[in-house]
Amino acid sequence: VSLNRAGYDAAAAQWDAARRDFYGRERDYLELFLGGLPAGARILDAGCGTGRPMAEHVAALGYAVTGVDQSAAMLELARRRLPGQTFRLAALEDCDFAGPYGGVICWDALFHIPRDRHRDILERLCRVLEPGGRIMLTSGGSAHPAFTDRMFGQEFFYDSLPPEALLALLRNLGFRVLLSELLNRPDGGRDKGRLAVVAQLPQ
Ligand SMILES: C[S@@+](CC[C@H](N)C(=O)[O-])C[C@H]1O[C@@H](n2cnc3c(N)ncnc32)[C@H](O)[C@@H]1O
Repeated sequence: VSLNRAGYDAAAAQWDAARRDFYGRERDYLELFLGGLPAGARILDAGCGTGRPMAEHVAALGYAVTGVDQSAAMLELARRRLPGQTFRLAALEDCDFAGPYGGVICWDALFHIPRDRHRDILERLCRVLEPGGRIMLTSGGSAHPAFTDRMFGQEFFYDSLPPEALLALLRNLGFRVLLSELLNRPDGGRDKGRLAVVAQLPQ
């Protein structure tokens, strides 16, 4: 969605200043995700933003990160932050993810894409994972129609499958769900909530 590309390009510096560290139990999810992966595995960060905190943390532990994002301004900050890692400017909807990877992170990015594309994106992410590979992702935390909202003075598009449909889709792709919980709860108003998931393919 071009709305989001323009929004993140315009707000990259403000985003980067705000997104300094893990939120809620994000660090626990990341530890669970990394727990089953071989040392030094390749990790894809799909919708990596400025690389903080996820790619930065993963790279510091010795994993090889490939970050993909459609915002040139966000990627520029990620490249500066993590010069030893690989970053590619692309939209998740039509990116050749160029695997294989031991793990895929898709954190707070899928919900910026129309839900009718989610199955295809998750299928393609699944295909670049090695046997036993893991995925950690977020999606919307409630059933709701697509909407737009403002952040840092920009308008952004949001859409998600209802949580149960997203979990069913992952199971349908062969994933075993290791964890699914609300990272934040819907407040009945603007905040539709966020579902955090860590899942694994069979060996
Ligand atoms: C909310 S930020 C999250 C960044 C980072 N993953 C994090 O955990 O902080 C969303 C990111 O997804 C990227 N994004 C949104 N839609 C995308 C798309 N269709 N293809 C690739 N990147 C996208 C944005 O440019 C932005 O960097």
